[in-house]
Amino acid sequence: MSQRTLVLLKPDAVRRGLIGEVIGRIERKANWTISALELRTLSQDVLEQHYGEHKGKPFYEPLVEFMSSGPVVALVVEGERVIEGVRALAGPTDPIAAAPGSIRGDFGTIVRENLIHASDSEESAERELKLFFPSLV
Ligand code: PPS
Repeated sequence: MSQRTLVLLKPDAVRRGLIGEVIGRIERKANWTISALELRTLSQDVLEQHYGEHKGKPFYEPLVEFMSSGPVVALVVEGERVIEGVRALAGPTDPIAAAPGSIRGDFGTIVRENLIHASDSEESAERELKLFFPSLV
């Protein structure tokens, strides 16, 4: 089933020069297409909407601060089971638990600076695409 997902290369990926590495891994997956891509600095308002469900959790404030510490690359990826697939490429939230071969397993350091965000369900993808690329929806 063809799907669309929102991917963010987080400020640590941009600072560390890993944009090409991560996008290359996505591009090498057969039958996936990047249909939008932009380098941008996220506003407080967008971050509060994006991470709204986590408000009140201990990691929320540091996460929002980190995500506004520099530009991110926002992209839309389309293809077969791409929501599940990009999350598999990324590996689990905690890089220590991520297997070698996954993006976080190969390059991750600490939980907060885990390089990549990818929508976790069709509902999240729809909401996040509206927030980040309203003209595409
Ligand atoms: S939860 O509580 O299970 O829903 O959390 P999870 O789905 O694992 O993560 C939600 C987002 O919060 C980030 N996260 C953290 N950031 C900083 N510090 C800590 N300890 C932490 N734990 C989780 C995690 O990377 C998710 O952000 P995105 O942008 O979706 O990757």
